[in-house]
Amino acid sequence: MKKVSILGTALLFLGASGLFAFDVGELAKRSDHGFKPVVVKDWQAPDEKTIPNNMFGEYVRYGKALVQETYKYIGPEVNDPKMRYAGNNLSCNNCHLDAGTKKYSAGFMGVFANFPQYRPRENTIGNIEERINGCMQRSMNGKPLPENSKEMKAMVSYMYWLGQGVPIGAKVEGVSLVKVDRKIIMSRAADPIAGEKVYKEMCASCHGDNGQGVKREGKAMGYEFPPLWGKDTYNTGAGMFRLIKSADWIVANMPLGATSDARILSDDQAYDVAAYMNNYDKERPIKANKEKDFPDAVVRAADSDIGPYNDDKNRHQHKFGPYKGIIIPAK
Ligand code: HEC
Ligand code: HEC
Repeated sequence: MKKVSILGTALLFLGASGLFAFDVGELAKRSDHGFKPVVVKDWQAPDEKTIPNNMFGEYVRYGKALVQETYKYIGPEVNDPKMRYAGNNLSCNNCHLDAGTKKYSAGFMGVFANFPQYRPRENTIGNIEERINGCMQRSMNGKPLPENSKEMKAMVSYMYWLGQGVPIGAKVEGVSLVKVDRKIIMSRAADPIAGEKVYKEMCASCHGDNGQGVKREGKAMGYEFPPLWGKDTYNTGAGMFRLIKSADWIVANMPLGATSDARILSDDQAYDVAAYMNNYDKERPIKANKEKDFPDAVVRAADSDIGPYNDDKNRHQHKFGPYKGIIIPAK
């Protein structure tokens, strides 16, 4: 009798938990600021020539340089060991293209106006410094910059300058990423074998046969073409390691020259090549304590490959799809 009731409870638990996959509606609710955001259309980057010649301008310029040539100031090869905050030789600019001004490449135009904000990965309200340090510890595989360091103040100053005139909380057209067709990701798993073919035809000429990229000569000079896997790139805690996020980024930005309006890859190709480059047979730095990410499974990113999940799908399916039954669309 005892056994049966335990089994019964276990089944009940399984059944109930199956109702709560990643809930887009719940995320929207938690992210709500309580006011209707203004929409900014046709955002244009401000003119560099207007950066003032004073201390503020100096920080803005240094912040831009840090974004564009991160490896030169805080990379693992800089002379001063205390300044080696980043763990790889990437630059922020390798993903946040054109110094964070390119639309749909996770640009920085709307960032300053949108923090503090709810962060599902930490399940708390985060500030802009913490968000930058999120990328420092994941995309840059490094250490957090002290919030009062010159480097942190400089990057924040640059984002402030870039976001001048954007009202607080506004949605700037072209921020974040485009979305590959959600019908595709709901209906099929990404295929790393099809992705390998895409990689060889469309990516390897720049990023190399082994995803190793092409490094510039000399110390702390970064990459001409950055590595996609291997020791010197983003770690397993990075957004780029997650399948949907990475496909969304790739489709409007790669091969180099692609934009949201002039795409080169189809959505299917972006989905598959993202699975290929982020597959488990590729070496990449491991993010420590990744199991602490997304402490609340209700808003755990659908493509996070570490559970526990609030649905009955396994880790493999969260990593590669299909995402039907994993994502509950907003009502
Ligand atoms: C390997 C790629 C990569 C690198 C390198 C990288 N990031 Fe990111 N970053 C991302 C992705 C992907 C996102 C998430 C974009 C989204 O979800 O809209 C992101 C988001 C951000 C955000 C939040 C953007 C927003 O719209 O709220 C900030 C700020 C940021 N990164 C700063 C930086 C800084 C500063 C650096 C360099 C120190 C850096 N990132 C390096 C990939 C990268
Ligand atoms: C013509 C050369 C070229 C081709 C082809 C190309 N890329 Fe890139 N890729 C670049 C460059 C250059 C950057 C860095 C951009 C910058 O810093 O301005 C980059 C950045 C990236 C990044 C972010 C940085 C990193 O190291 O993770 C990813 C991911 C990426 N490319 C994936 C791809 C994929 C997938 C393809 C094929 C569909 C592809 N690229 C094709 C040149 C290329």
